[in-house]
Amino acid sequence: MDLFEAISTRASAARLAEPGPTPEHLTRILDAATRAPDHGRLKPWRLILLDEAARGRFADAVVAARRARPPEPSEEQLNLEREKIWRSPTLVVVGCALVRDNAKVPEIEQVLSAGAAAQNMFLAAHGLGYGVMWKTGPAAYDRGVKASVGLQAHDHIVAIMHFGTRIK
Ligand SMILES: Cc1cc2nc3c(=O)[nH]c(=O)nc-3n(C[C@H](O)[C@H](O)[C@H](O)COP(=O)(O)O)c2cc1C
Repeated sequence: MDLFEAISTRASAARLAEPGPTPEHLTRILDAATRAPDHGRLKPWRLILLDEAARGRFADAVVAARRARPPEPSEEQLNLEREKIWRSPTLVVVGCALVRDNAKVPEIEQVLSAGAAAQNMFLAAHGLGYGVMWKTGPAAYDRGVKASVGLQAHDHIVAIMHFGTRIK
């Protein structure tokens, strides 16, 4: 798909099914992320592709975060939180690992760079014909959830990005 067609037709996919991106396509999608503009060449983005075990740990952390957040959730709500993490064939968490107190590159510019990396991934996957959904939600700001994917409390999760075949 031509770049301008990809940009002008980009939209979220509410429902995603198998198959997810092939290994070759996944490499191209992740490579696209690393072409994001990057002030100071800090490479602040972290592209965390979750395999089944890592996804399970991430889902556990999301559920724990919801459990800790008022109002007290029902078991049904907790199950829904877990289920949301498993709604797609392929899940990549895009983090921003901050270099703090950098005289030249304020933190917001590092976050913007990670956001640009996420958008590059979205457009690349869309251009290859996949459906994509970019999510965050309260769990993305929880230190336990961040820790579950190797990020520190002061880092950011800028995208919980789902990939698959669009069915809606
Ligand atoms: C940083 C960021 C976080 C988002 N988090 C969520 C989210 O948690 N849940 C959600 O339904 N949409 C979320 N969205 C919005 C959707 O990804 C989507 O872009 C929006 O619903 C507009 O639909 P479109 O992508 O088809 O234009 C987020 C978007 C961004 C940029």
